[in-house]
Amino acid sequence: MRALTVVHPVADERWPSEDEAARSRWFSPVRIGLREARSRTWIPAMVPWRASDEGFVTDRVIDWYARFARGRPGVIVVEATGVRDVASGPLLRVSDDRYIDGLAKLTDAVREASSGQTLLFVQLIDFLSIRRRPEPSKFFQRFLRVTDGHRERLSALTGLDPRSWPEDDALRASIAALDEASLERVLTARELEDLRYGARERVTDTHLPHIRALPEQLPALFADAARRAERAAFDGVELHYAHAYTMASLLSATNTREDGYGGSFEGRLRAPLEVLAATRAAVSRERVVGLRMLGDEAIDGGTRIQDAARFAVEFARAGSDFISVSVGGKFDDAAQPKVGHAAYPYTGPSGHECMPTVRSDARGPFGRNLHYSRAIRAALRDAGLSVPVVGAGGVNSFTLAERALEEGDCDIVASARQSLADPDWFAKVRAGEGASVRRCKFTNYCEALDQQHKEVTCQRWDRLRAGDPPLPAQQVSRDGRRRLIAPG
Ligand SMILES: Cc1cc2nc3c(=O)[nH]c(=O)nc-3n(C[C@H](O)[C@H](O)[C@H](O)COP(=O)(O)O)c2cc1C
Ligand code: SF4
Repeated sequence: MRALTVVHPVADERWPSEDEAARSRWFSPVRIGLREARSRTWIPAMVPWRASDEGFVTDRVIDWYARFARGRPGVIVVEATGVRDVASGPLLRVSDDRYIDGLAKLTDAVREASSGQTLLFVQLIDFLSIRRRPEPSKFFQRFLRVTDGHRERLSALTGLDPRSWPEDDALRASIAALDEASLERVLTARELEDLRYGARERVTDTHLPHIRALPEQLPALFADAARRAERAAFDGVELHYAHAYTMASLLSATNTREDGYGGSFEGRLRAPLEVLAATRAAVSRERVVGLRMLGDEAIDGGTRIQDAARFAVEFARAGSDFISVSVGGKFDDAAQPKVGHAAYPYTGPSGHECMPTVRSDARGPFGRNLHYSRAIRAALRDAGLSVPVVGAGGVNSFTLAERALEEGDCDIVASARQSLADPDWFAKVRAGEGASVRRCKFTNYCEALDQQHKEVTCQRWDRLRAGDPPLPAQQVSRDGRRRLIAPG
């Protein structure tokens, strides 16, 4: 892991006058498919853990997005929203028609709060199952499927006859008693990982019928979700082809499927192209269909920018209305979770690349990943494609955003954490009041809440202090200690 030894201060800024902002690229309109965003400001998907346990829109979800909409960004992308009708806790879902009414209330609220100035997309996600890290005793008693391979390896380790453990239970008990080094000789690499991190399905587990069937199922799952999003009056959808989830795993250089949906560049691209085609065909032409993908997986053996740029060209040729670029955020290098917790894909080095903090290497977090969107944009333009590219990663100032646009790093600038720290920041900068922007500290307090699936808030505004006027219950977190909505 690279040494994160340099602490980069959040520098003071020179903010533009109202006139300068009005003339800027950042506040100039941009076409996205057949729509036009009023400015090149963009709030990318951020899961705030405010949906109901069944995945429905709640009043808290509505308040959250309406608050962002008051700052009138060009685009808001609603958090990763599940396309598959399976229990997934308080993560929004669009996996059945029963979700449409709630989502329609959300689009109404955003339209009203932004006076129709903000385009609203929803990010569509599919993910595979992941289990919590088990208690070792439970793992050995219940999850480990013992085989003759275990018998043989234990026999080689101990010098005992393989028939010493005629009963599986005796074999389990003997394996459970081994020390870590011996376990490494008796368990398979996958079993060791299941024990130490919790079992996690992969797109390459083609021995499992539902994983083998992914390429057949995914196009309809995404297309149906997009159809529902259109009925709920979203302006468009963003296919989640980034980070640790199914679609990014299919694109990944680590996808070694041998059924035509892995291995080669074309094989890895095949299912994502089929999902894009089905989604495009499912909604009317005036709805936006775009996607978010990785410029670099930031893991050993992962996809690098050269392949990512070629993927982007193919997606644009196939009709993607925008290409949003992120980096990393993988399970492959995630930190070991505590027993009883699940691994989280933003805890390892690739997670740091995805949400860089002030504690960084010499390059620092600010605009850290814009060279990836720049390379992807250049490849698109070389191929004669004008599809807009969205860049992200530590963008926290007018100067940085404006420079990114001027230098061709991207066509639209996404800011997640800075928008969370101050949802009014676009409006303030536009009004020439940049000096009053509440700056993000880039220390990832918000991300730590996300990791624990707690309601996401920001350290810059969530403390409830004695003497504060009382807030409606709906605006206080479940632990009673934090305000849920930025003041102002
Ligand atoms: C709390 C939180 C939740 C996030 N959830 C998502 C998500 O649902 N989908 C996604 O593509 N990215 C997600 N991200 C990543 C952001 O969209 C963004 O790419 C990342 O934070 C880097 O941008 P920034 O430096 O402007 O914050 C999340 C980030 C945070 C902080
Ligand atoms: S919690 Fe910290 S990193 Fe997150 S938005 Fe607020 S200031 Fe930024």
